[in-house]
Amino acid sequence: MANDLSSPNRGVWNSKLGFILAASGSAIGLGNIVFFASNAYQFGGGAFYLPYFFALFALGIPVMILEFGLGTMTRRSFPEALYRIGGRKAEFVGWWSIAAAGFITMYYIAILGWALGMMFGALGTLFEGGATAPFTPFLTPTAPDDPSAMVYFFNLITTWWPMVCVLVIWALNILILIKGTKTIEAAVRIFVPLMWVFMIVLIIRGLTLPGGTDGVLYLFTPDFEGISDPSVWKGAFSQMFFSLSLGLGTMTAYASYLPKDADQVNNSLLVSFMNCGFEFLAGVAIFSLLFAFSLNPAGTTLSLSFFVIPEGLAEFPWGVRLFGFLFFFLIVIAGLTSSISLIEGPASALIDKLGITRGKALTFILIPGVVGSLCYTLPMIIDPDLSGNGTLGLSLLDVMDHWAFNYSLLTVGLLECLMVGWVLGADTLRRAVNQHSKFYLGRWFNVMIKFIAPLLLGGVLVWSLVAEFSQPLYGSLVDLGSFNWIPNVIPFVWFFGTIAFAAYLTFGRTYPPYDLDSLPFREATPETSA
Ligand code: PHE
Repeated sequence: MANDLSSPNRGVWNSKLGFILAASGSAIGLGNIVFFASNAYQFGGGAFYLPYFFALFALGIPVMILEFGLGTMTRRSFPEALYRIGGRKAEFVGWWSIAAAGFITMYYIAILGWALGMMFGALGTLFEGGATAPFTPFLTPTAPDDPSAMVYFFNLITTWWPMVCVLVIWALNILILIKGTKTIEAAVRIFVPLMWVFMIVLIIRGLTLPGGTDGVLYLFTPDFEGISDPSVWKGAFSQMFFSLSLGLGTMTAYASYLPKDADQVNNSLLVSFMNCGFEFLAGVAIFSLLFAFSLNPAGTTLSLSFFVIPEGLAEFPWGVRLFGFLFFFLIVIAGLTSSISLIEGPASALIDKLGITRGKALTFILIPGVVGSLCYTLPMIIDPDLSGNGTLGLSLLDVMDHWAFNYSLLTVGLLECLMVGWVLGADTLRRAVNQHSKFYLGRWFNVMIKFIAPLLLGGVLVWSLVAEFSQPLYGSLVDLGSFNWIPNVIPFVWFFGTIAFAAYLTFGRTYPPYDLDSLPFREATPETSA
């Protein structure tokens, strides 16, 4: 029976280690290196840390237990897991999150394509004084003898090369996903330990630079004044969700390949702490460089990693190319172990719903995915004075990221807490998880899922929507010439695109029925201790 719970098509992790590597590989990615540092800088270093830690304990860990728990309870991907607990409306939320994951994957991979381009650049002319080659210059260096990573980056993205890089990254993703858990496990066994090693090398290098430790002080000296600003809280919540890979169906899909007696409290704690530990190290490495070389990371999210840090690396007394290469290679492998999970969520959801093979599901994702990623790497210059983003692709990406990053994950987080908390009942999930957990989840968990998390998430979402619409539409102040429509059109494409996709998959088809009573969470789940 195609939809049998023990369906061999779905895949299983070979070992607990394989799952932990895959889930932490998913969590650790661009979010930890590129986005964390720029968010922390934007929100004032020490002012960001308190909301960030609060978000880890109040939202991150409980929601991860919830998403992992849903996966092992139902042994199904996110939309079907939600369907089994809350019917069609819940399923709709699941597909909406899958659509959101699709939009994010497209630009996530575009960024990885640029990182790959810069990685090759590090081996080539990126760190050579005055070099604009191998590209036709869009920018020329102001100091002809100094290397300029910014000049290099913009010259790179105004060529067609990033499109080739994007195709390479998509191909790598598909290769890793082709045999499901088997190939994912093989890849993460190599990449995840490697990225820890590289990060440790970079951090040692950063901290041994004169002045490097000042950056660490800036990052970790608490600033109690900054935390009264709600935007810091919203920034910390979105960062936490993104960094822990929550709200996009990823963690449920990965957990659905575990045996049903997996200890999900333990797994959630391990993955969350590993992720935030890595983020902490990345923050230290990046801020030590910023301070050692008095760099000013003003500009867009990407500028910090793509040219401010390389500008610091270029000042190294030795090993410039080596460290430059390591830095971008680190971004590429960390991003790759995340992008595969961004694709696996939708792939497993399509396999479960349509009963199709993995190959077909991956093809359905690959075609729109590649087209989307290529759009974000379109090299036409539409903002020549660089008041915003320079190229057509980067401008599209910036606006899409604004909407998708800030709104999809937190909205899904809010809705999944409400559905599990009030429809299934937080206590049912808590008891099911407790059956196999060494660490006993007390009734406080119910309070977190039913009240605290929804209030926090609902609160920041309402606040951000009000703030959003009391200002000119995001991005509309930048002059993009004949492309001024971009900021107006993207939010509609994102909003209606995701809704239409979710409606089609939810209402256009039904899941093959199976005996609900056979679902593990329907089994007796007695309270094991008081
Ligand atoms: N957590 C990943 C990162 O930090 C991104 C991601 C988000 C991956 C959601 C999967 C799902 O880069």
